[in-house]
Amino acid sequence: MPIYHRLGNLPPKRHTIFEKPDGGLHYEQLFGTIGFDGMSSLLYHLHRPTMVKQVGESVDKRPQVAVERNMKSRKLHGFKVAPVDDFLDSRVPVLINSDVHVSLAAPRHSMTDYFYKNADADELLFVHEGSGTLKSMFGEVPFVPGDYVLIPRGVIYQMHFDTEDNRLLITESFHPIYTPKRYRNHFGQLLEHSPFCERDYVLPRNLQAHDEMGDFLIRIKKQGQITDYVYASHPFDVVGWDGYNFPFGFSIHNFEPITGRVHQPPPVHQTFETKAFVVCSFCPRLYDYHPKAIPAPYNHSNIDSDEVLYYVDGDFMSRNDIGPGVITLHPGGIPHGPHPGAYERSIGKKDTDELAVMIDTFKPLQITQAALDLDDGVYWKSWMEH
Ligand SMILES: [Fe+2]
Repeated sequence: MPIYHRLGNLPPKRHTIFEKPDGGLHYEQLFGTIGFDGMSSLLYHLHRPTMVKQVGESVDKRPQVAVERNMKSRKLHGFKVAPVDDFLDSRVPVLINSDVHVSLAAPRHSMTDYFYKNADADELLFVHEGSGTLKSMFGEVPFVPGDYVLIPRGVIYQMHFDTEDNRLLITESFHPIYTPKRYRNHFGQLLEHSPFCERDYVLPRNLQAHDEMGDFLIRIKKQGQITDYVYASHPFDVVGWDGYNFPFGFSIHNFEPITGRVHQPPPVHQTFETKAFVVCSFCPRLYDYHPKAIPAPYNHSNIDSDEVLYYVDGDFMSRNDIGPGVITLHPGGIPHGPHPGAYERSIGKKDTDELAVMIDTFKPLQITQAALDLDDGVYWKSWMEH
């Protein structure tokens, strides 16, 4: 998160004595990425964050790949993913490679008896349906439909949902997820041509230090397996923190679309970047205003990337028979474009209400067995006129 934030009480100088009111010291923790080179925060705990009581067996959670080298465009019906009580059990990985795992989830219950930490990957949750609060050692991040919630690797958290009706698109990235570099100046501040600015971020709030001892289960994902750790102190015992590395929210509805006289390419929709994939937001916007503009995209050859679109809401202008919760995958090297009629249909249209999230990966994606169960099997030939 390229912006400084602080909550709670801190000593005036880092790495110095910070006493508790009733005696004893707070315990400082540096929470950083990329060695000591990436973004970091300094946290002050009531208890040592290292008091491990038990380590359980590890359970392998690597997704089962059904198609290792995919050569077909696919359409997955994401809303067919069944609701499941538990947040971790509800995750269904569908498209994966060594950089990123894309999963769908319809969790019903809040996490009340355990905490979770993904030590493998940054997690970008897109909230399609449902609302609630992400609780973490950094405080709380409330979320509503349309929110991205970015959780850097290593953050210990719990999801608390307001109801049982929740739908999430989850992107696990094995590289840190950033906002696009080209929208930031040398100091990290978002520039005037950025489609969003710092005020749009939902920063952690309501930091509460839990001074509790006992048995606290943290389910830790590392190397594709989940291991149950039991700690002696509550993981949310932080009295204060500051820095740049923390979870935050950003609503897709606060993305201000960049439009033009003729069709603008997908990078204008870019919202997040990594070394290995980008995330774009397709939002309601005015169409191209050249008198002869064709608002539908031209056919294009995404030769060096696989293109994933997750449809959220509205009428997606370039495709037929697409509804909310559908994922399309266009593998690299196979040109794709508007469905029959969509190109012509778009001419003269003034605006679109489409809402979608796109994930373009630079390495090919593999198809999981769970994805095949959602696949309509015929999408790849849907550009033939009937
Ligand atoms: Fe495309």
